[in-house]
Amino acid sequence: MDYNSQNALFGLAFISCNALTARCTHFPGNWQKITLRNLDGVYRSSENLGMEPPKLNPVVEPLSWMLGTWLSEPPGVGTFPTLQPFQYLEEVHISHVGQPMLNFSFNSFHPETHKPMHRECGFIRLKPDTNKVAFVSAQNTGVVEVEEGEVNGQELCVSSHSISRISFAKEPHVQQITRKFRLNSEGKLEQTVSMATTTQPMTQHLHITYKKVTP
Ligand code: HEM
Repeated sequence: MDYNSQNALFGLAFISCNALTARCTHFPGNWQKITLRNLDGVYRSSENLGMEPPKLNPVVEPLSWMLGTWLSEPPGVGTFPTLQPFQYLEEVHISHVGQPMLNFSFNSFHPETHKPMHRECGFIRLKPDTNKVAFVSAQNTGVVEVEEGEVNGQELCVSSHSISRISFAKEPHVQQITRKFRLNSEGKLEQTVSMATTTQPMTQHLHITYKKVTP
Protein backbone atom coordinates (compact mmCIF):
# COMPACT_ATOMS: atom_id res chain seq x y z
CA MET A 1 0.00 0.00 0.00
CA ASP A 2 1.47 3.44 -0.89
CA TYR A 3 1.72 6.26 1.62
CA ASN A 4 -1.31 8.17 0.26
CA SER A 5 -3.51 5.08 0.44
CA GLN A 6 -2.34 4.56 4.00
CA ASN A 7 -3.18 8.17 4.85
CA ALA A 8 -6.64 7.69 3.30
CA LEU A 9 -7.04 4.53 5.38
CA PHE A 10 -6.01 6.30 8.54
CA GLY A 11 -8.29 9.22 7.62
CA LEU A 12 -11.17 6.77 7.49
CA ALA A 13 -9.97 5.20 10.72
CA PHE A 14 -10.00 8.65 12.36
CA ILE A 15 -13.52 9.31 11.13
CA SER A 16 -14.82 5.97 12.40
CA CYS A 17 -12.79 6.51 15.58
CA ASN A 18 -14.49 9.89 16.10
CA ALA A 19 -17.85 8.21 15.62
CA LEU A 20 -16.84 5.61 18.20
CA THR A 21 -15.48 8.22 20.63
CA ALA A 22 -19.01 9.45 21.22
CA ARG A 23 -19.91 6.02 22.57
CA CYS A 24 -16.55 5.24 24.28
CA THR A 25 -17.41 7.20 27.38
CA HIS A 26 -14.73 5.94 29.73
CA PHE A 27 -11.59 6.82 27.78
CA PRO A 28 -10.61 10.49 27.33
CA GLY A 29 -12.00 11.85 24.03
CA ASN A 30 -8.60 12.00 22.32
CA TRP A 31 -7.44 8.53 23.45
CA GLN A 32 -8.38 6.68 20.28
CA LYS A 33 -6.87 9.45 18.13
CA ILE A 34 -3.58 9.08 20.03
CA THR A 35 -3.73 5.30 19.71
CA LEU A 36 -4.34 5.48 15.97
CA ARG A 37 -1.65 8.16 15.51
CA ASN A 38 0.83 5.86 17.26
CA LEU A 39 -0.14 3.06 14.89
CA ASP A 40 0.28 5.47 11.98
CA GLY A 41 3.82 6.06 13.28
CA VAL A 42 4.49 2.33 13.21
CA TYR A 43 3.28 2.07 9.62
CA ARG A 44 5.38 5.07 8.60
CA SER A 45 8.50 3.46 10.06
CA SER A 46 7.83 0.34 7.99
CA GLU A 47 7.37 2.56 4.94
CA ASN A 48 10.58 4.49 5.71
CA LEU A 49 12.44 1.19 5.85
CA GLY A 50 11.02 0.32 2.43
CA MET A 51 8.96 -2.55 3.81
CA GLU A 52 5.67 -3.77 2.38
CA PRO A 53 2.85 -4.25 4.93
CA PRO A 54 3.22 -7.89 5.98
CA LYS A 55 0.76 -10.58 4.87
CA LEU A 56 -0.79 -12.63 7.66
CA ASN A 57 1.09 -15.90 8.05
CA PRO A 58 -1.45 -18.70 7.39
CA VAL A 59 -0.30 -20.51 10.56
CA VAL A 60 -1.96 -17.81 12.71
CA GLU A 61 -5.16 -17.50 10.64
CA PRO A 62 -7.16 -19.34 13.42
CA LEU A 63 -6.26 -16.42 15.75
CA SER A 64 -6.98 -13.62 13.25
CA TRP A 65 -10.16 -12.66 15.15
CA MET A 66 -7.89 -11.31 17.91
CA LEU A 67 -6.03 -8.84 15.66
CA GLY A 68 -6.53 -5.11 16.13
CA THR A 69 -6.44 -2.32 18.65
CA TRP A 70 -9.05 -2.70 21.35
CA LEU A 71 -10.21 -0.39 24.17
CA SER A 72 -12.11 -1.53 27.24
CA GLU A 73 -15.83 -0.78 26.95
CA PRO A 74 -17.12 -0.80 29.67
CA PRO A 75 -14.19 -0.61 32.16
CA GLY A 76 -12.76 -3.94 33.30
CA VAL A 77 -13.63 -5.33 36.72
CA GLY A 78 -11.02 -6.72 39.11
CA THR A 79 -11.88 -9.04 41.98
CA PHE A 80 -10.06 -11.38 44.36
CA PRO A 81 -10.86 -12.60 47.88
CA THR A 82 -8.09 -10.41 49.34
CA LEU A 83 -8.95 -7.25 47.34
CA GLN A 84 -11.66 -4.59 47.26
CA PRO A 85 -13.32 -4.89 43.81
CA PHE A 86 -11.82 -2.34 41.40
CA GLN A 87 -12.28 -1.06 37.87
CA TYR A 88 -9.69 -0.36 35.19
CA LEU A 89 -9.31 0.83 31.62
CA GLU A 90 -7.22 -1.16 29.17
CA GLU A 91 -5.72 -0.58 25.73
CA VAL A 92 -4.79 -3.70 23.79
CA HIS A 93 -2.74 -4.05 20.59
CA ILE A 94 -2.65 -7.42 18.88
CA SER A 95 -0.65 -7.36 15.67
CA HIS A 96 1.60 -9.42 13.41
CA VAL A 97 4.65 -8.84 11.23
CA GLY A 98 4.11 -11.82 8.93
CA GLN A 99 5.78 -14.29 11.30
CA PRO A 100 3.84 -17.38 12.48
CA MET A 101 2.86 -15.65 15.74
CA LEU A 102 0.92 -12.65 17.04
CA ASN A 103 2.47 -9.84 19.09
CA PHE A 104 0.43 -8.37 21.93
CA SER A 105 0.47 -5.62 24.53
CA PHE A 106 -2.09 -5.08 27.29
CA ASN A 107 -1.78 -1.72 29.06
CA SER A 108 -4.15 -0.89 31.90
CA PHE A 109 -4.94 2.47 33.48
CA HIS A 110 -6.73 3.77 36.57
CA PRO A 111 -10.28 4.71 35.47
CA GLU A 112 -10.21 8.21 37.03
CA THR A 113 -6.58 9.34 37.18
CA HIS A 114 -5.51 7.42 34.02
CA LYS A 115 -2.34 6.47 35.88
CA PRO A 116 -0.71 3.42 34.21
CA MET A 117 -1.31 0.19 36.12
CA HIS A 118 -0.66 -3.42 35.09
CA ARG A 119 1.20 -3.86 31.75
CA GLU A 120 2.23 -6.94 29.86
CA CYS A 121 3.47 -7.83 26.41
CA GLY A 122 4.45 -10.95 24.55
CA PHE A 123 3.61 -13.38 21.80
CA ILE A 124 0.90 -15.87 20.92
CA ARG A 125 2.14 -18.88 18.93
CA LEU A 126 0.23 -21.69 17.27
CA LYS A 127 1.72 -25.12 16.74
CA PRO A 128 1.43 -25.50 12.94
CA ASP A 129 -1.46 -27.70 11.74
CA THR A 130 -2.93 -27.99 15.26
CA ASN A 131 -5.14 -25.84 17.49
CA LYS A 132 -2.46 -25.87 20.23
CA VAL A 133 -1.54 -22.38 21.40
CA ALA A 134 1.29 -20.96 23.52
CA PHE A 135 0.86 -17.57 25.19
CA VAL A 136 4.17 -16.04 26.37
CA SER A 137 4.03 -12.92 28.53
CA ALA A 138 6.31 -10.51 30.44
CA GLN A 139 4.57 -8.35 33.04
CA ASN A 140 5.65 -5.07 34.66
CA THR A 141 5.19 -6.74 38.07
CA GLY A 142 8.33 -8.80 37.38
CA VAL A 143 6.44 -11.95 36.41
CA VAL A 144 7.18 -13.85 33.20
CA GLU A 145 4.98 -16.75 32.25
CA VAL A 146 4.13 -19.34 29.62
CA GLU A 147 0.54 -20.45 29.23
CA GLU A 148 -0.66 -23.15 26.86
CA GLY A 149 -4.06 -24.26 25.63
CA GLU A 150 -6.29 -24.40 22.58
CA VAL A 151 -8.12 -22.18 20.16
CA ASN A 152 -11.58 -23.42 19.19
CA GLY A 153 -13.44 -21.17 16.79
CA GLN A 154 -13.37 -17.67 18.26
CA GLU A 155 -12.40 -18.79 21.76
CA LEU A 156 -8.92 -19.24 23.20
CA CYS A 157 -8.36 -20.92 26.60
CA VAL A 158 -4.85 -21.11 28.07
CA SER A 159 -3.42 -21.96 31.47
CA SER A 160 0.02 -21.53 32.97
CA HIS A 161 2.76 -24.10 32.39
CA SER A 162 5.51 -22.05 33.98
CA ILE A 163 5.66 -18.84 35.98
CA SER A 164 8.87 -17.11 37.02
CA ARG A 165 9.54 -13.80 38.71
CA ILE A 166 12.19 -11.35 39.84
CA SER A 167 13.70 -12.04 43.28
CA PHE A 168 12.04 -8.96 44.82
CA ALA A 169 8.53 -9.40 43.34
CA LYS A 170 5.72 -8.28 45.65
CA GLU A 171 3.98 -11.01 47.68
CA PRO A 172 1.72 -12.92 47.58
CA HIS A 173 3.08 -14.64 44.47
CA VAL A 174 0.86 -15.92 41.69
CA GLN A 175 1.16 -19.71 41.35
CA GLN A 176 -1.27 -20.51 38.52
CA ILE A 177 -3.04 -18.44 35.85
CA THR A 178 -5.86 -19.28 33.44
CA ARG A 179 -7.25 -17.01 30.73
CA LYS A 180 -10.14 -17.18 28.36
CA PHE A 181 -10.44 -14.88 25.33
CA ARG A 182 -13.51 -14.93 23.13
CA LEU A 183 -15.10 -12.82 20.43
CA ASN A 184 -18.71 -12.34 21.49
CA SER A 185 -21.80 -12.07 19.27
CA GLU A 186 -21.46 -8.24 19.22
CA GLY A 187 -17.91 -8.47 17.80
CA LYS A 188 -16.36 -7.47 21.14
CA LEU A 189 -13.32 -9.21 22.58
CA GLU A 190 -13.65 -10.55 26.13
CA GLN A 191 -10.90 -11.64 28.50
CA THR A 192 -11.37 -13.46 31.82
CA VAL A 193 -8.34 -14.13 34.03
CA SER A 194 -8.30 -16.37 37.12
CA MET A 195 -5.33 -17.07 39.36
CA ALA A 196 -4.16 -19.00 42.39
CA THR A 197 -1.65 -17.34 44.72
CA THR A 198 0.44 -18.50 47.66
CA THR A 199 -2.53 -17.57 49.88
CA GLN A 200 -5.66 -18.18 47.74
CA PRO A 201 -7.00 -21.00 45.55
CA MET A 202 -7.90 -20.46 41.87
CA THR A 203 -10.34 -17.52 41.77
CA GLN A 204 -11.36 -14.97 39.13
CA HIS A 205 -9.18 -11.82 39.16
CA LEU A 206 -10.28 -9.96 35.99
CA HIS A 207 -13.11 -9.70 33.53
CA ILE A 208 -13.09 -7.19 30.69
CA THR A 209 -14.76 -6.53 27.35
CA TYR A 210 -13.04 -4.54 24.59
CA LYS A 211 -14.36 -2.67 21.60
CA LYS A 212 -12.27 -2.75 18.41
CA VAL A 213 -11.06 0.70 17.35
CA THR A 214 -9.12 -0.29 14.23
CA PRO A 215 -10.91 -1.16 10.99
C1 HEM B 1 -2.23 -12.17 34.33
C2 HEM B 1 -2.26 -10.94 34.78
C3 HEM B 1 -2.24 -10.60 36.25
C4 HEM B 1 -1.72 -11.31 37.30
C5 HEM B 1 -0.96 -12.62 37.25
C6 HEM B 1 -1.99 -10.55 38.50
C7 HEM B 1 -1.62 -10.93 39.76
C8 HEM B 1 -1.92 -10.26 40.94
C9 HEM B 1 -1.58 -10.69 42.26
C10 HEM B 1 -0.80 -11.96 42.61
C11 HEM B 1 -2.06 -9.77 43.11
C12 HEM B 1 -1.97 -9.81 44.66
C13 HEM B 1 -3.25 -10.42 45.21
C14 HEM B 1 -3.31 -10.42 46.71
O1 HEM B 1 -2.84 -9.47 47.35
O2 HEM B 1 -3.86 -11.41 47.27
C15 HEM B 1 -2.70 -8.75 42.32
C16 HEM B 1 -3.28 -7.62 42.85
C17 HEM B 1 -3.80 -6.60 42.10
N1 HEM B 1 -3.97 -6.58 40.73
FE1 HEM B 1 -3.41 -8.06 39.45
N2 HEM B 1 -2.66 -9.42 38.16
C18 HEM B 1 -2.82 -9.41 36.80
C19 HEM B 1 -3.44 -8.45 36.04
C20 HEM B 1 -3.95 -7.28 36.55
C21 HEM B 1 -4.54 -6.24 35.74
C22 HEM B 1 -4.70 -6.23 34.20
C23 HEM B 1 -4.93 -5.26 36.58
C24 HEM B 1 -5.58 -3.99 36.15
C25 HEM B 1 -5.37 -2.82 36.68
C26 HEM B 1 -4.60 -5.69 37.93
C27 HEM B 1 -4.83 -4.97 39.10
C28 HEM B 1 -4.51 -5.40 40.37
C29 HEM B 1 -4.73 -4.59 41.56
C30 HEM B 1 -5.33 -3.16 41.58
C31 HEM B 1 -4.29 -5.34 42.63
C32 HEM B 1 -4.29 -4.92 44.14
C33 HEM B 1 -3.19 -3.97 44.44
C34 HEM B 1 -1.85 -4.52 44.16
O3 HEM B 1 -1.48 -5.56 44.74
O4 HEM B 1 -1.14 -3.94 43.31
N3 HEM B 1 -4.00 -6.92 37.86
N4 HEM B 1 -2.61 -9.08 41.01
